[in-house]
Amino acid sequence: MSAGIKIFAPASLSNLGCGFDTLGLALDAPGDELIARFSDTPGIRITGIFGAKGKLPLDPTLNTAGRSALALLDHLGDPKLGFEFELHKKMPFGSGLGSSAASAVAGVMAVNELLRRPLEKMDLIPFALEGEKIASGDLHADNIAPSLLGGVVLVRSHDPVDVLRLPCPPGLHVVAVYPYVEVLTKDARAVLKDTVPLKSMVKQAANLASFVVGFYRTDLDLISRSMKDIVVEPQRAHLIPHFYEIQESALAAGAIGCSISGAGPTIFALCGNSFIAEEVGERMAKIYSDNRIEYDLFYSGVNQDGAVKC
Ligand code: HSE
Repeated sequence: MSAGIKIFAPASLSNLGCGFDTLGLALDAPGDELIARFSDTPGIRITGIFGAKGKLPLDPTLNTAGRSALALLDHLGDPKLGFEFELHKKMPFGSGLGSSAASAVAGVMAVNELLRRPLEKMDLIPFALEGEKIASGDLHADNIAPSLLGGVVLVRSHDPVDVLRLPCPPGLHVVAVYPYVEVLTKDARAVLKDTVPLKSMVKQAANLASFVVGFYRTDLDLISRSMKDIVVEPQRAHLIPHFYEIQESALAAGAIGCSISGAGPTIFALCGNSFIAEEVGERMAKIYSDNRIEYDLFYSGVNQDGAVKC
């Protein structure tokens, strides 16, 4: 049996208010860990999953880490290659924090690292997407790309992959509050209308473009003015308890912006520094405490490295 390696793949925020399926941001923590080693048996075998309360499948074709790794193996085309995975889930799934994407990223990173990096990280995206597809039923790279590459990313296209990293204002902090309610990504996508009124398209496009300019200029006021989702957020807000109340209190406490993280139910706020983040987090969490709704609260900086071999 060969020695194992450990991969860390971070959680991520996606959409970031105005960039549905196009913007994503990697968190320092939490993140999944995957122990991987070569095996004499060809293919992928998942020997254990920890921290998932038995809710994730060991069958590699049904598991995001296994499926992404199998897609990469298929591409590499050596039928003798075999790997064993042990997955340690360190974040809630079905939360909007990119849990399925983190595991999918960990799967491709593990194979690529054990084989001494035949592919660049950017080239791993299509295989990681194959894994993510099992969980969300759709292809979108706004969690995969930040978890893999780190930083704040703009996904112009996932097929072919065209992903751009944005410069990140120093000191940017994230608060994320995850209420214990289940929102499946598939369901949160199914509630969305297929069409967008022209006027809304114009406003959303203007906000997304200005958001990107704000990141290039380190202009927190411009980012704040632009972090408004008039298309997707209003259609999903009802899935998340006290969403508007929490958003209002985060903004009143000094957050740059506050919106749904990915498909929810996690609500996140971007803050200019860790002190503001602490104040914002307390106010957001208080609303759930006062209403006796259980939650987890996460504080994080922006992870600049993405997935790594530890
Ligand atoms: N951008 C996706 C969505 C992320 O909002 O549906 C889901 O993981």
